[in-house]
Amino acid sequence: MFRISAAVLGLAVLAAPAFAEPGPAEGGAIYETRCKMCHSGAIPAAPTQDKLALLENDRIVEMLTNPTGMMASAVGGISDEDKRNIAVFLTGKTMPAKGSLPEVKAS
Ligand code: HEC
Repeated sequence: MFRISAAVLGLAVLAAPAFAEPGPAEGGAIYETRCKMCHSGAIPAAPTQDKLALLENDRIVEMLTNPTGMMASAVGGISDEDKRNIAVFLTGKTMPAKGSLPEVKAS
């Protein structure tokens, strides 16, 4: 009896949207490992996360696409989808679909 309900519970957890959909949560995980070390105050020139939160999504995607200054050597190899996931993680603003890229919903 217990085993069966545990299995059912496991399936329910796997089916929950937070696990099924990549999105801001994935962007947040990337931010933790690839951005935070500079943007948490360690590099005075790098705006802190509360400042990044005030930017438009497009500005963040643009900076990750054509990075300048210290960013230039720091943020290569991020997919277009993940740039959008990071932007929505930071701003909390939903990004509409663009071309083949799906909408990224703020959580
Ligand atoms: C090596 C340190 C470093 C890393 C790593 C880094 N940044 Fe930056 N970032 C900076 C600095 C310094 C600036 C200030 C502008 C400049 O140097 O050109 C900046 C600027 C920015 C800006 C522009 C802010 C504005 O006002 O327009 C954004 C957006 C940004 N970073 C996002 C990120 C994201 C997202 C990541 C991770 C994927 C990241 N950065 C990783 C150092 C870093």
